[in-house]
Amino acid sequence: MGSAKLEARGLGKRFKTRGQVVDALLGVDLSLGDREFVSVIGPSGCGKSTLFNIFAGLETPTSGDVLLDGRTTVGADLLGRVGYMPQQDLLMPWRNILDNTILGLEVAGVSKRVARERALDLFPLFGLSGFEKRYPDDLSGGMRQRAALLRTFLAGRDVILLDEPFGALDSLTRAGMQQWLLRIWEEHRKTILFVTHDVDEALYLSDRVYAMSKRPGRVTQILEVDIPRPRAYDVITSEPFIEMKQVLLEQLRLAHGPGKAA
Ligand SMILES: Nc1ncnc2c1ncn2[C@@H]1O[C@H](COP(=O)(O)OP(=O)(O)OP(=O)(O)O)[C@@H](O)[C@H]1O
Ligand SMILES: [Mg+2]
Repeated sequence: MGSAKLEARGLGKRFKTRGQVVDALLGVDLSLGDREFVSVIGPSGCGKSTLFNIFAGLETPTSGDVLLDGRTTVGADLLGRVGYMPQQDLLMPWRNILDNTILGLEVAGVSKRVARERALDLFPLFGLSGFEKRYPDDLSGGMRQRAALLRTFLAGRDVILLDEPFGALDSLTRAGMQQWLLRIWEEHRKTILFVTHDVDEALYLSDRVYAMSKRPGRVTQILEVDIPRPRAYDVITSEPFIEMKQVLLEQLRLAHGPGKAA
């Protein structure tokens, strides 16, 4: 791939805590092209969040490189360069939804007034109109996720990392959110890297899917999803989709090792 927006080359991460050594990632190569939607799928504990933390500059790799816009970028220099929605939505319970969504802008030094104006412009698109003054506890799971996504989008980065944003949602809400996210992605021309445990979700959303092994996480398969866009949701029952799903499920079964279901 010519010019990747974000790239991992031979990335490894070893944690040492209280005398214990955990190899979380081993030799991970991954490439995210401009305006691509790419997913990472793999068993729990295989290092997906660790990979995202490295891309976001919150962890430093033990080996390998991260390239942003083709330039090797390390540790703290990555901070604030990509949009990141961590696995927990981290909405602050004492701030209303509007003020939760502007957090990233405030940290970046934008005045509250300007930040609120920018956020309010996006409330309809994120299905949150009328909930500006409500508190996170009053919102449904889907709405909380959309508020966290709005905050991530507002920060204005080209590349956005989403770590299992829909993991806690029921399947109907989740399907709705997936279709909505694709619309937003298409309209806003973002580059998205997405973590999920759900094979349908990975295939439906992505241009490419990286399957990872159990810990230490390595890339075991790269699957190009050559299904035309825009994708209607019923594409998930089409023959090419189901064939890809079988390939991916088999890969994940292997990744889990013997004796465990995928
Ligand atoms: N800060 C840390 N210190 C020590 N060990 C860590 C740290 N962060 C992660 N680990 C370990 O690294 C491994 C990978 O963790 P990580 O959270 O990246 O997995 P994951 O693929 O995101 O899992 P899940 O799908 O459950 O979210 C785990 O064994 C975890 O315990
Ligand atoms: Mg995780």
